[in-house]
Amino acid sequence: MSVQFNSEKNLFVIDTRNTTYAFDIIHGRYLRHLYYGKSKSEPFSAKKHKAPCTPYRQEENGIYMPFLQMHECSFFGVGDFRCPSLRIRGADGTGITEPIYESYRIFEGRRELDGLPSARADGNTQTLEITLYDDVIKCRIILYYTAFYDEDVISRYMVVQNCGKENVRVEKCASLTLDIDSCELDLVTLYGAPNSECTYQRAPLIHGIHAMTSQRGTSSHQQNPFFALCARGTNEERGEAYGFNFVYSGSFLNEIEKDQFFRTRVTVSVGGDGFSYLLTEGECFTSPEAIVTYSDKGLGGMTRNMHAFVRAHILPPSALKPHPVVLNTWEACYFNIDEKKLFDFADEAKKLGFDMLVMDDGWFGARNHDRAGLGDWFENPEKFPNGLKTFVDGIRSRGLGFGIWIEPEMVNPDSDLYRTHPDWCLRVAEREPMLSRSQLVLDMTNDDVIEYLTEIFDRTFAGVEIDYFKWDMNRYLCGIGSKNLPAERQAEIGYRYVKGVYRLLDRFAKHFPNAIIETCSGGGGRYDLGMMCYGFQIWASDNTDPYARTRIQYGALSAYPSTTMSCHVSDPKNSIESLDYRYKVAVGGMLGYELNILKMSDEIKKNIAKQIHEYKRFEHIVRMGEYYRLVSPIKNEYSAYYYILPDKSELLLSIIESAVCEKTQTKKLKLRAVAPHSEYVEVYTGRHYTGKELREGSCFELKGNRDSAQLLWLKRLY
Ligand code: DGJ
Repeated sequence: MSVQFNSEKNLFVIDTRNTTYAFDIIHGRYLRHLYYGKSKSEPFSAKKHKAPCTPYRQEENGIYMPFLQMHECSFFGVGDFRCPSLRIRGADGTGITEPIYESYRIFEGRRELDGLPSARADGNTQTLEITLYDDVIKCRIILYYTAFYDEDVISRYMVVQNCGKENVRVEKCASLTLDIDSCELDLVTLYGAPNSECTYQRAPLIHGIHAMTSQRGTSSHQQNPFFALCARGTNEERGEAYGFNFVYSGSFLNEIEKDQFFRTRVTVSVGGDGFSYLLTEGECFTSPEAIVTYSDKGLGGMTRNMHAFVRAHILPPSALKPHPVVLNTWEACYFNIDEKKLFDFADEAKKLGFDMLVMDDGWFGARNHDRAGLGDWFENPEKFPNGLKTFVDGIRSRGLGFGIWIEPEMVNPDSDLYRTHPDWCLRVAEREPMLSRSQLVLDMTNDDVIEYLTEIFDRTFAGVEIDYFKWDMNRYLCGIGSKNLPAERQAEIGYRYVKGVYRLLDRFAKHFPNAIIETCSGGGGRYDLGMMCYGFQIWASDNTDPYARTRIQYGALSAYPSTTMSCHVSDPKNSIESLDYRYKVAVGGMLGYELNILKMSDEIKKNIAKQIHEYKRFEHIVRMGEYYRLVSPIKNEYSAYYYILPDKSELLLSIIESAVCEKTQTKKLKLRAVAPHSEYVEVYTGRHYTGKELREGSCFELKGNRDSAQLLWLKRLY
């Protein structure tokens, strides 16, 4: 049993394979957080703090001081003073929210979230449901804790129900609150920009409130929702680390507050963009799901928990099968595509061993540049004179799968769709809307828009065999208003928009059950767990420069497994060294290519064919292996990491140099995850290594070249 209630002590304990989470009910009314960390049994004790000027309430059996204790959920306006989890503005207008404990329920599996994606349960998943009630604002609050036993993950979200007659407004609703009362912590975040997504940053947490937020309607390039906290001395192998993430693709607010007692409060909330949500009598609001994991095996252990969880509970199961090696047309052709050119691409791609041709932007409407056509989802007859079906059949008859680019959420003002339905985009009638990449955002809160998109894609793709959709989204939301909603619901647009996107994605996934969906948002602007529930993989960045990619992939892999990360080799400018380097960087994730295959020299093409062949022999290690970071590319002249299969039979070690050094250098790398009493052989060189020496440190030569990279494929002999 992973969730238990001790009725004598009013104590809830949630156990996963290696962790324990505990809280109790005090004074019969309040939830007090006690412990989250390495597996432990009772007793759990709360640290006692003292502070002058602390508000208190005299309860029957003692004094209750909200500020001095740790909480499961902290409420606005009732003397806790740290970042609250919940603020509901009831009819009294104060925002004071003070629900008290009512009941609990423990059940196998989990409950679905209303219109939001969530982690799938398996046979080792249990849920604890806690109900609270505020009799003044007449709201019921239901907290959900789901324990994913095998992966050491606990997920949290809450439902707020208006049980009264008066309207109330949910102004803040943190899916997860965690109070940590231990030691000095460091904060790890993934910040960035388009072309430099997921930049890994670690810094000591200082007193005050640190917020990581997206106000852009997407989870954003600028701040990935993932973050971690770790004890100051924690490294890759040892020390305590907590990882957090959000199963949501819109604006969010992550707050970390360090207070006067050196306690740390974490909240993970929807919104941050002026969000609030009106609840009329009987209505409910469901927050998205947030997740937390704990490991005492350092940041490496935390990352591997996250990877295992995403693989087992977030990604569609098909994402664990081999991914096709695709040739994508974007960097090679941009909008300049047509049937003849792509047949030539396909002929060449087939010869080199590609699995699939992905036709990127430019195939539909008047899409000859990025200023027109979005919304007109029918093929351009000048480019495809024989129709889409004949073209796709032609690609397939060459022995390749076929993928196609779409950007359903957007519209160009220069499009038939906009000319017919100018009121279908998000805007405020009296204000001039802001364009970004010459496009406006469709109102995904409007059912008519969702129906139209479903119908137009069904019609255009009827009878066309598509294996792969690249679902793009190329602008942030701003200046938004919806004709579809009354004034008092305009602050809900961000959240309702994301739910509309999920609804459409879900329909797509059901309508094209055999197709893969790769999601993308101007690169990695929506690299998040919400998208991963539908998408097979994510385009991590538009930046295919291998030096930048090494850093982006390092950051992304701290939270998300290799299977989510699509990595393309782009034009090596006729340099075999550069091609080799780009390839060795790209095989850290799911390999693809994005170059003009018709313009490559025979030598380059020969090498691409060799690379695809080689990758297919070891891709199972990248796809299913456990990930170990050895050397970070941030501030180092090289980086190193490896994937090792769970049974330790094979591993792939990557050593990627990124700086010129005067002399060759010898580096000692310790591959602690290999089997100790064993021997491995390196496939390319035939060199033997004992498990002991690999674990204790083997020497590897750096060439001292900026574009030098090594892959070592080790197989266990016994
Ligand atoms: C942005 C994506 O990140 C690119 O890969 C490409 O698909 C373009 N959009 C097409 O417009």
